[in-house]
Amino acid sequence: MKFLVIAALFSTVVAGLSTSKVCVVPAAGNSSIDDTPAVLKAFDQCGHGGKILFENTTYHINSVMKTTGLKDVEIDLKGTLLWSTNVSYWLNHSLPVGYQNQSTAWVFGGKNVRFNGHGYGTFDGNGQTWYNACGSVSNYPGRPHALTVSETSDSEFTGLRFVQSQMWTLSIIHSRNTIFEHIYVNSTSVHASSRNTDGADTIYSSHITFRNWEVDNGDDSISLKANSTDILIEDSLFHRGLGIAIGSIGQYKDTYETIQRCYGVEGTGYRDLTVYHFFGDGGELHVFEVPASRSSVQEFEWDNYQC
Ligand SMILES: *[C@@H]1O[C@H](CO)[C@@H](O)[C@H](O)[C@H]1NC(C)=O
Ligand SMILES: *[C@@H]1O[C@H](CO)[C@@H](O)[C@H](O)[C@H]1NC(C)=O
Ligand SMILES: *[C@@H]1O[C@H](CO)[C@@H](O)[C@H](O)[C@H]1NC(C)=O
Ligand SMILES: *[C@@H]1O[C@H](CO)[C@@H](O)[C@H](O)[C@H]1NC(C)=O
Ligand SMILES: *[C@@H]1O[C@H](CO)[C@@H](O)[C@H](O)[C@H]1NC(C)=O
Ligand SMILES: *[C@@H]1O[C@H](CO)[C@@H](O)[C@H](O)[C@H]1NC(C)=O
Ligand SMILES: *[C@@H]1O[C@H](CO)[C@@H](O)[C@H](O)[C@H]1NC(C)=O
Repeated sequence: MKFLVIAALFSTVVAGLSTSKVCVVPAAGNSSIDDTPAVLKAFDQCGHGGKILFENTTYHINSVMKTTGLKDVEIDLKGTLLWSTNVSYWLNHSLPVGYQNQSTAWVFGGKNVRFNGHGYGTFDGNGQTWYNACGSVSNYPGRPHALTVSETSDSEFTGLRFVQSQMWTLSIIHSRNTIFEHIYVNSTSVHASSRNTDGADTIYSSHITFRNWEVDNGDDSISLKANSTDILIEDSLFHRGLGIAIGSIGQYKDTYETIQRCYGVEGTGYRDLTVYHFFGDGGELHVFEVPASRSSVQEFEWDNYQC
């Protein structure tokens, strides 16, 4: 009995401490030393009710990462996460995203997560290697997205810079009530094409806000894919990329997919509005002449553009 009381007290103390626990991620500062184990350890120790701090230095990310089930956590990125260019490693090890045949370098997920880059915290995918290796091949199997935000809710990502993403920059899947703001994306290639370097893609997600994005890339600036609902894009600037893409949906024979209530509001500058793979038909848009029974796009508005 006495033991139980002590055990109960102890767990209370631990819970109390953990709310203010801070894990500072050490960096080895050597590209041949993988900082991934240190990153994963910090998420393990401080991923529930704690704070994870990346200092103003370069972290070498040489392995895939999966940090899911996080809760009430603050992540401060003051330096650069630099992904390695071991193409054969990444092709063999990148993690499934859960959509098409896509895969990723980092699966990240949680509830009430605040991820802050303060306007300078950077994800550097070392993408030139990928643009050279895969340039003309679309959706090269195993080529990783930079970051996949999966099963995430009630969260905020702010002040982050994504440069030279390996492939798609940010895939957002099975997530809701999450805001991504003050985000800079630049995936441009010197010679080869930087095809497939989408800025962000939403999939099976709802109530997602993109605010104050700046994207310069070689593919969709932001793309709303299968089952994207209640998406708001505002105060954003898109440079060389293709603009906003709606789709692809309705590409699988026995799957019904939809895109609804997506808005781009005043103050958003864009180079172009691209609606891929669709043609209009009485207010509805269809993909690849796929029957409406398999796909629909409803209430999509973009400045003066409506469908
Ligand atoms: C980086 O790490 C490798 C492998 O541990 C070592 O051989 C090399 O000397 C280190 N380089 C520096 C600059 O410390
Ligand atoms: C990060 O460190 C570099 C030099 O090590 C410095 O020039 C830069 O101002 C620092 N950045 C921030 C945001 O503190
Ligand atoms: C690339 O990764 C593989 C493991 O998948 C490893 O055997 C190989 O040494 C790595 N190559 C380089 C150049 O680091
Ligand atoms: C990747 O997998 C292939 C076989 O699927 C194998 O031949 C190759 O050595 C692997 N490369 C690495 C770096 O693990
Ligand atoms: C899916 O990716 C695997 C390797 O990750 C590849 O072998 C396969 O051909 C790809 N399938 C399609 C349809 O692209
Ligand atoms: C993106 O990067 C390229 C190459 O460094 C640069 O020329 C371009 O100005 C950048 N775009 C933006 C919008 O900062
Ligand atoms: C996509 O939405 C449709 C219509 O609401 C639904 O039937 C389908 O199950 C959804 N698919 C996924 C994978 O959530």
